[in-house]
Amino acid sequence: MTLTDSTTPARAGVRYGDPDFALQATSPVIEHQLRHRSVRAFLPTPVTEEELRAVVAAASSASTSSNLQAWSVVAVTDPERKRRLSDLAARQEFIVEAPLFLVWVADLDRGHRLAQRNGEPLDATAYLESTLLGVIDTALAAQNAVVALESLGLGSVFVGAVRNRPEEFAGELGLPPHSVAVFGLAVGHPDPTEDAGVKPRLPQTAVLHRETYDAGKADAGLPAYDERLAAYHRAHGLTGAWTERVLARLAGAAALGGRDGLRDALERRGLPSR
Ligand SMILES: Cc1cc2nc3c(=O)[nH]c(=O)nc-3n(C[C@H](O)[C@H](O)[C@H](O)COP(=O)(O)O)c2cc1C
Repeated sequence: MTLTDSTTPARAGVRYGDPDFALQATSPVIEHQLRHRSVRAFLPTPVTEEELRAVVAAASSASTSSNLQAWSVVAVTDPERKRRLSDLAARQEFIVEAPLFLVWVADLDRGHRLAQRNGEPLDATAYLESTLLGVIDTALAAQNAVVALESLGLGSVFVGAVRNRPEEFAGELGLPPHSVAVFGLAVGHPDPTEDAGVKPRLPQTAVLHRETYDAGKADAGLPAYDERLAAYHRAHGLTGAWTERVLARLAGAAALGGRDGLRDALERRGLPSR
């Protein structure tokens, strides 16, 4: 179904930081997705049990490799546990402030338990493919959850820093072997005073290729994007353009916050990558 909405050009333009960008085909779901932004400041209002159940139902509705559903989610509301988890995840204060912290877990242990109960082998889980499968399933479920919670008026931010110290994180949550926290999601009612907006994304020319990959064409729009993102940053009290941030983030192991040891940690958690 194609709907038209006079507000769409403006929203799509904001998404790309480009007032000239407009959409002719759209839908209520797309309208909703165009408004996404991460929320890092929350009101103390709790997330209700019904809201949590709705969000998990949306997560469960994501596609999943071979219907394995190789993910679990741990809902943490205990302030002291959130504090300990925050300490393990680069001391990001919004983890404590958010009424709900969801930890999304790539879970191959359910399969291991099935195999054990049925006396069957589970040798395929020794391969990187199975760990990737778990991570992919987990990411698809979690992003469905984000779209759902935003539709309920809630906000959230992903927390990749849960992978900084994966074994201590697993210990705090009582995770079984053959499972690992892939990311957290701090969830709550957005604090309206937070200084944040819809962050412009790369232009479609940078991400959308036709038939074959064309690096030259894709990169031609990057200088203009740098300017757009720098303008967004300036408007919200931040600094830097996209290029310098990407290069700093990917410069070396020091920027990985301990995640350079992730492969060994996964191996120790029973998720080897042959
Ligand atoms: C897997 C993943 C991990 C992330 N980890 C963090 C994090 O640890 N701390 C944080 O403040 N934001 C984190 N983010 C949020 C990103 O910084 C944010 O999505 C990105 O800058 C785009 O901004 P937007 O979501 O507001 O559009 C993470 C996002 C993803 C997808």
